Amino acid sequence: MLRISVLVSGGGTNLQAIIDGIESGSIQGAELVRVISSNPEAYSLERARKHQIPSVVIGKMNYPDRRERTKAILSALEEAQTDLVILAGYMSILEPDLIEAYRGRIINIHPSLIPQFCGTGFYGKHVHEAVLSAGVLESGATVHYVDEGVDTGPIIIQEKVSVLEGDSPEALAARVLETEHKILQEAVKIVIASKRQR
Ligand code: GAR
Repeated sequence: MLRISVLVSGGGTNLQAIIDGIESGSIQGAELVRVISSNPEAYSLERARKHQIPSVVIGKMNYPDRRERTKAILSALEEAQTDLVILAGYMSILEPDLIEAYRGRIINIHPSLIPQFCGTGFYGKHVHEAVLSAGVLESGATVHYVDEGVDTGPIIIQEKVSVLEGDSPEALAARVLETEHKILQEAVKIVIASKRQR
């Protein structure tokens, strides 16, 4: 069983997609062992509770020092014997120590077609606002491995979403989010299959 910990900051619909994938049997060979939230108010914590997944809040409010925060995240991941870390709407940048400790074992979901509309400052609704201001006809979603850069690691899966006439950032975000849920489930299956081959 691949032991998955998920890092979140908000509503957690992507976390829910992984929960649903595992509970429905669509994702096999994996279990959710920890949810780590940077935000004590995140609805993700409620989702974890409903599905009996142990959760912990590690954020700026309880760990104001960056180094201490990273140490706390590392010990939570280690305590849960984590094999794979998923950043699912996690709005912080991971420190190099954490990336080094879990190299090749951290994946992130991003709401655009990387390398477009990604990097510093491109997160959440800012991504969709930028897509609409640029007037492009296509956006999408990407799941990729995490390295030291911001949204730069190797891409696992990507899918396009059309930008429609008169789209608002919210309407575009909602359509992209549906695609995110689908490709995040696929990405987890791809990672599980790749670990089996070793
Ligand atoms: C998702 O759209 C995710 O791709 C984005 O935040 C949203 C979280 O939604 N992540 C980023 O922008 C990270 N750069 P969720 O909490 O419902 O999964």
